[in-house]
Amino acid sequence: MSQSKVAAHKYQDATQPIEERVEDLLSRMTLQEKADQLCQSWVTDFNPNNPQSANAQRIQPTYGSYVYFIDVPARNGVQKIAMEQSRLGIPALFGSDVIHGCFLTFPIPLAQACAWDPELVRRSCSFAASEARRSGTDWIFSPMIDVTFDPRWGRISEGYGESPYGVSVFAEAAVKGYQGETLDSSDTAACTLKHFVAYGASEGGRDYSYTDVSPVRLWEMYLPPYEAGVKAGAAAIMSSFNDLNGVPVTANHYLLTEVLRDLWGFKGPVLTDWDSIGQLVHQGFATDARDGLKFSINAGIDIDMVTYAATNHLAHWVQTGEVSQERVDESVRRILHLKFALGVFEHPYVKENDKISPERRNEGEKLAEDLAEQSMVLLKNADNVLPISPQTKRIALIGPLLADKSEVLGSWRYAAEVAQTISIEQGLREALPANVSLKTECGCDFDDDKRDGFAAAVELARQSDVVILCVGEKATMSGENTSRSSLRLPGVQEELALALAETGKPVVLVISSGRPVELQRLEPKMQAMLSIWQPGTKTGSAVARILFGQCNPSGRLAVTWPRSSGQIPLFHNMHLRARGDGDQGAYKDISTTPQYEFGYGLSYTTFTYSPIVLKFTTVKPGGELMAEVTVTNTGKVAGSETAFWFINDPVASITQPIKQLKHFEKAAIPAGASRVFKFAIKPERDLTFRNGQGDSILEPGIFNLMVGGQKVSFSVEK
Ligand code: NOJ
Repeated sequence: MSQSKVAAHKYQDATQPIEERVEDLLSRMTLQEKADQLCQSWVTDFNPNNPQSANAQRIQPTYGSYVYFIDVPARNGVQKIAMEQSRLGIPALFGSDVIHGCFLTFPIPLAQACAWDPELVRRSCSFAASEARRSGTDWIFSPMIDVTFDPRWGRISEGYGESPYGVSVFAEAAVKGYQGETLDSSDTAACTLKHFVAYGASEGGRDYSYTDVSPVRLWEMYLPPYEAGVKAGAAAIMSSFNDLNGVPVTANHYLLTEVLRDLWGFKGPVLTDWDSIGQLVHQGFATDARDGLKFSINAGIDIDMVTYAATNHLAHWVQTGEVSQERVDESVRRILHLKFALGVFEHPYVKENDKISPERRNEGEKLAEDLAEQSMVLLKNADNVLPISPQTKRIALIGPLLADKSEVLGSWRYAAEVAQTISIEQGLREALPANVSLKTECGCDFDDDKRDGFAAAVELARQSDVVILCVGEKATMSGENTSRSSLRLPGVQEELALALAETGKPVVLVISSGRPVELQRLEPKMQAMLSIWQPGTKTGSAVARILFGQCNPSGRLAVTWPRSSGQIPLFHNMHLRARGDGDQGAYKDISTTPQYEFGYGLSYTTFTYSPIVLKFTTVKPGGELMAEVTVTNTGKVAGSETAFWFINDPVASITQPIKQLKHFEKAAIPAGASRVFKFAIKPERDLTFRNGQGDSILEPGIFNLMVGGQKVSFSVEK
């Protein structure tokens, strides 16, 4: 709905450069109007015909933005208030958490990472942005790029795993996907890197907790994805809840201003997380929200998500001189700039029923299925029990997840089309060969202790050739505020699995979860195990294609999968102990090794790696060293392999992790064929480390390069 009115002021004239429109508008605003732009209010519902409706008191004509998904009429109703009842007619922005799809639901981000295909991530974000923008979301609070090593933390499901490099690659892909070439389009939306920073280091995996992270680790592990996301052009950043080394990020000048602005040159707005200004009080940093506002704004925050401190107290602080007018103007500029870039001054309203084309929807569905298939990780396949053999005539499908359409969507999916989810049962039935029977028994629920269903499930198993047991976590068990002290399967699911294994029938365990779960007691008893994570709308068809062998599993773990909760934290990029990686210093009551390593995942075929070929054995700063490895598909079926290239710097003035992922590539390899994977090592990019100030340091000496079980050394010369 473009406005054909002649512009009365420069800021209303779309032909003017954005910077000039911003300055013109800023010069016309009162202090309170500016303060209100910094306010992000909360609207979940609004009836435009009933001004008394639930959210009405949270809607003000001059508020800058709103959080949460609302339908188009409600969104337009709120926007009408901004456009028509405010003095300057500044449109509001509408932000929401579109984390892994809007209506069509893709696998959770942790699963997406296991597909190791950034292009699929880019396309899924692009599709999600089209659906979101057309339904009224201008601003997406994603990607979540918090590295974490703690699967007790429920938000591990929302991120892309434990490798800072891997998360950086996916961060860039997500930004490009959401934002496309221009923000002024009904197919793109502004995106938000979150939660800046080190939120994944929450003590004990307890959400919202204190984080104690050394400056070196901050630069080594937690900051790189944000630097990559800023370089990729992310429109906004959300600060994290955590108190970091005694200064909550919401009020952390070093991070919000010195790193983000001064060092990285980030130009967009930084918004707080939910009520974070108010929460500075719980964190013992501010006496009240007014106090908290002063600290946050002076530290570099631009938008106050739902504390309403900016609207209530900013003018006070400017009047007392504790917050400068320049600081406020800087924030307002960033917000207005984003609004102009999104084109909302010209198109404040969203068309009703502006659906994406059927062709695009079909593409999206195909993509959702591809991503679901490629993200599933085959953990065990004894005696090649999978794919299910053509001799199988009777399949028992058991477990609380078998017909589910909702838990498999994971957290953050409130606009998802739950009814359209393909359940595992549905997927299997559609793919079932004509002469094969499929019978079902639930066996137990997810999280209670009732065992009444065990007997029927065991009986069904006895009468079958193979058991497919579908277990896991409910959607509400991962995501925000879902920390768990143990990775055990909830309820009596593990017991059910063991009871079924007692029948002697082969059991294929299909696990849906938002985090790795403890499998150490089950692993010896299950014939096969497939982690499907939370695959989204296409769950059932993807599972069926893998189980029946139409799709060869290719997912590889983007997180280390511990044997037991007591091993946490356990990650591939840890540092060595003083006595090496043997028994010395390790726990004496549990194993030191993970159940499954980072990068692990089986296939229905086998791949062998040649020794690594290095073009030279030395490299100089500014140079490049080409490494190659030939991977051969030695099995009988085509498959996809991901080559993970790790670097280890064995001696450095700041000690370095055992290994760090520096490059990866996934490729399909036909049966019997070979493929050469290459890694062009650039010393400044791949062989440097950061000190606590963030300086990049390249030290001469020996380095180790590893891929697919092969290892070679080379040196960096001065
Ligand atoms: C709190 C969450 O931490 C954040 O990820 C989300 O974007 C906001 N709430 C808004 O829903």
